[in-house]
Amino acid sequence: MTTIVRGGTVVNADRSFRADVLCHEGKIVAVGENLDTPAHAQVIDAGGQYVMPGGIDPHTHMQLPFMGTVTADDFFTGTAAGLAGGTTTIMDFVIPNPQQSLLEAYHTWRGWAKKAAGDYTFHVAVTWWNETVHADMGTLVREHGVNSFKHFMAYKNAIMADDELLIKSFARALELGAIPTVHAENGELVFQLQQELLKKGITGPVAHPLSRPPAVEAEAANRAIAIANVMNTPVYIVHVSCAESLEAITRARAKGQRVYGEALAGHLVIDDSVYRSNDLEFAAAHVMSPPFRGKHHQAALWQGLQGGNLQTTATDHCTFCAEQKATGYDDFTKIPNGCGGVEDRMAIVWNAGVNTGKLTPSEFVRVTSANAAQIFNMYPRKGVVAVGADADLVVWDPEGTRTISAKTQFAKGGFNVFEGRTVRGIPTHTLAAGKLVFQRGELRAVEGAGRHVDRPAFSPFIGAAMQRA
Ligand code: URP
Ligand code: ZN
Ligand code: ZN
Ligand code: ZN
Repeated sequence: MTTIVRGGTVVNADRSFRADVLCHEGKIVAVGENLDTPAHAQVIDAGGQYVMPGGIDPHTHMQLPFMGTVTADDFFTGTAAGLAGGTTTIMDFVIPNPQQSLLEAYHTWRGWAKKAAGDYTFHVAVTWWNETVHADMGTLVREHGVNSFKHFMAYKNAIMADDELLIKSFARALELGAIPTVHAENGELVFQLQQELLKKGITGPVAHPLSRPPAVEAEAANRAIAIANVMNTPVYIVHVSCAESLEAITRARAKGQRVYGEALAGHLVIDDSVYRSNDLEFAAAHVMSPPFRGKHHQAALWQGLQGGNLQTTATDHCTFCAEQKATGYDDFTKIPNGCGGVEDRMAIVWNAGVNTGKLTPSEFVRVTSANAAQIFNMYPRKGVVAVGADADLVVWDPEGTRTISAKTQFAKGGFNVFEGRTVRGIPTHTLAAGKLVFQRGELRAVEGAGRHVDRPAFSPFIGAAMQRA
């Protein structure tokens, strides 16, 4: 199977240049001007367009059992939606129940992911601790290509990690050459604020952001960073949503600490007015954690991306349909937390980032694929258009427009937090492992075509703090 993408401008994180890209058997085999077109090659005309590495969404939840239900998108529909939006690799989360074996949970998720249409890889959550967890972390790193472990500092009485767990797991990750990641919200504070709001009779979705103010997130971000500093381990903070958390990251980085931060497409462009809507279904559809924030937080997050203190963009794609969200209309603490976005992240970040001059096209590549590939050690297999890399490409028309809507999306759940936004800058073609899987609105995703991506420990990009003992 040979494909040539002709006449476009290749955009990598370090430079952009006019080149054709020749793909053969799933890999990029040549990048250069005026390449010969092999006989029988499929030709994609990229004239006037950019040719970029396929997006990596470092934070999704497909087929996740969560808060008493299961997300609407499974690994096929979710990865297929990603391909339609130019995202060719997702990083999902294995989330064991407390007391459940990490290895058993990992194999369960690997089974669910077999139907993925795009490539995938897993962070594994550490939700409890004993000697078998310690041992399983080692097995996951040494035998299963896992190099990142997730810690939920929120979700008390479910999967919340206390300080003891953070310290033990961070230490274990360090010795294994894996990176700890955290969902930073103080779960005890959230719990107490939720009880107070319910007692006062504030029970609808409007209460959700009130129970999780920025200070609650910032406390946890500062604590995780402080623990990582004492343990001398790098740390990656998922879904940074507010200026105060970003300040914690910025401060630590200024002192030389290896702290990385992720911004969600939703947090970059949606504000907290959504929770004050009189339309209960609309408000509940936006319940996710951390919540959408006031506008000045969005400005701060963009500054974080521009200044390099936030390295990645993600979606936290975690879709629930209206009936699922409705279970919590009278008690906001029961609304399953999560929103979609895997299909729209690239276009949203381009439209609000590149079109406004906040990001250059190369910086766009940095924050949509290259940095995630480097931090999580998939580079240069992923995150760059270069000979030897996987032929995961998005051909991007900077002048193409699309109005985002749940009516036309491929993702499930029947709702889109970006509904009605018209974006300029859209994918015209997506290649995954050399195969044309999306062409001008037509999705050709193949169930089961996605592959698991092994990620070795000791990523060279996150450096000296993780030297082998
Ligand atoms: O509300 C969210 N974000 N749901 C998914 C789980 C998580 O916290 O990332
Ligand atoms: Zn989270
Ligand atoms: Zn998440
Ligand atoms: Zn449903």
